[in-house]
Amino acid sequence: MSKKLLAPSLLAADFGNLQRDIEMVNSSDADWFHIDVMDGVFVPNISFGMPVIQAIKKYAEKPMDVHLMIVDPDRYIDTFAELGTANLTVHYEACTHLHRTLQAIKSKGMKAGVALNPHTGVNLLEDVINDIDLVILMSVNPGFGGQKFIENTYNKINRLKELIITNNASTLIEIDGGVNANNAKALIDAGADVLVAGNFVFSSENPIETISNLKKRMF
Ligand code: DX5
Ligand code: ZN
Repeated sequence: MSKKLLAPSLLAADFGNLQRDIEMVNSSDADWFHIDVMDGVFVPNISFGMPVIQAIKKYAEKPMDVHLMIVDPDRYIDTFAELGTANLTVHYEACTHLHRTLQAIKSKGMKAGVALNPHTGVNLLEDVINDIDLVILMSVNPGFGGQKFIENTYNKINRLKELIITNNASTLIEIDGGVNANNAKALIDAGADVLVAGNFVFSSENPIETISNLKKRMF
């Protein structure tokens, strides 16, 4: 069985102590830095942009998993490659020419991801599944951390897993939103490969221990 990964979302970090929080993740059992970029158009919130990501990269010793919640993401593919992004995920709902976007991301040496809003069916990926390195299933409506997990996500994991197996693809399934110690194991058992956790990690008293406990539930 392949290794299961945990990606703390820096959206929930203390931006006044960003270096401290990044170093905490460096020294933890976490695998990736999940980085949420919001433009105030695709989602009703603005998070942070390039200068902040550049600062994150300076200290981050684990791969940057960038989740773009922006319209017209093609405009920034080169920039994210230059920033040292490992995985670049765009929203299905924001791409008119998704196949082209995926090829452009991969041509820059990054892994290409597609995120689906809670209402977007996984069947829409049928014709591109072999071109996708990872799918982010949104288990909350994107835009904010700290929301309640949407239970229908389990059905979507099952259907996506089936699609991946049928097509002999090696796409990873990543779950984003409302992940905590109560649902982590069930999500992995359902077929998830990567879990994002924001508030559950950063609002806890001992984030290092929270990460380590979450990881223990993922095997
Ligand atoms: C939501 C973001 C998530 C968010 C997760 O739009 O994509 O990555 O930071 O935060 P929690 O784990 O608090 O739901
Ligand atoms: Zn995210």
